[in-house]
Amino acid sequence: MKTTVATFAKMKLEHQKISMLTCYDYTTAKIINETNVDAILVGDSVGNVMLGYPDTLSVTMEDMITYGRAVTRGCPNKLVVIDMPFMSYQVSVEQALVNAGRLLKEARGNAVKLEGGATVCPQIKAMTQAGIPVMGHLGMTPQSVNAFGGNKVQGKTLDAANKLIEDALKLQEAGVFSIVLECVPAKLAKIVTEKLSVPTIGIGAGVECDGQILVYQDMLGMYKDFSPKFVKHYANLADVITDAFNKYDEEVKGSSFPGEEHGFKIDDDVLEKLY
Ligand code: KIV
Repeated sequence: MKTTVATFAKMKLEHQKISMLTCYDYTTAKIINETNVDAILVGDSVGNVMLGYPDTLSVTMEDMITYGRAVTRGCPNKLVVIDMPFMSYQVSVEQALVNAGRLLKEARGNAVKLEGGATVCPQIKAMTQAGIPVMGHLGMTPQSVNAFGGNKVQGKTLDAANKLIEDALKLQEAGVFSIVLECVPAKLAKIVTEKLSVPTIGIGAGVECDGQILVYQDMLGMYKDFSPKFVKHYANLADVITDAFNKYDEEVKGSSFPGEEHGFKIDDDVLEKLY
């Protein structure tokens, strides 16, 4: 059974925790498809972990469609949310609607995610009215890294905490089915979670959120450029991969790979007639 936005609503009602991972490629999507993880985000973190940019700002609609398509092909059983990249929804409601539509029509996502509070509510209303489920994203929203002056915990002052609560309520009123809370103090995330009827998905926002999300290269110990405090390493794949690559190099140079079992045969009588 495929998870959907209705699954998210049911899980919130039944106080069941929601697990999400990011994903950007077909092979990993197929692996996640066979796990108990509830849903996938094709995040614009693709800019960092797949494309090697220092932030998410250069990610394009074409990038999100290409990576989104790869994931939806590999993961038919999970809700797939696709991020709207920087400047694909901020300019106008009309442009936001066209771009959100492309992520469903061309990339076959089931929902879109966009960053921001009250200012993006008109876009969210237009999308939900058009039948496009929307996930909100508050707190440390990476597309605003320049405005924040770096990747910083958000909502720590009274004004900022009140603003975050207000924004969350406005997003809910505009029609989001869920809200990501990124780098928000755990006690504030708990208050927001209790005030909302839609589920919160935390990343660096404590255990009281309705669900959690991590970037898969972070949690597998593959991405070493920087490791935020909120990441837990469930594996150390960078070391496993490095060892495998070095072993391969050693075997190629020592002529022990490929072995006979990796090759193809030709009949001797064909060989004899050659030349
Ligand atoms: O792009 C992304 O991976 C995200 C998650 C960190 C929530 O937005």
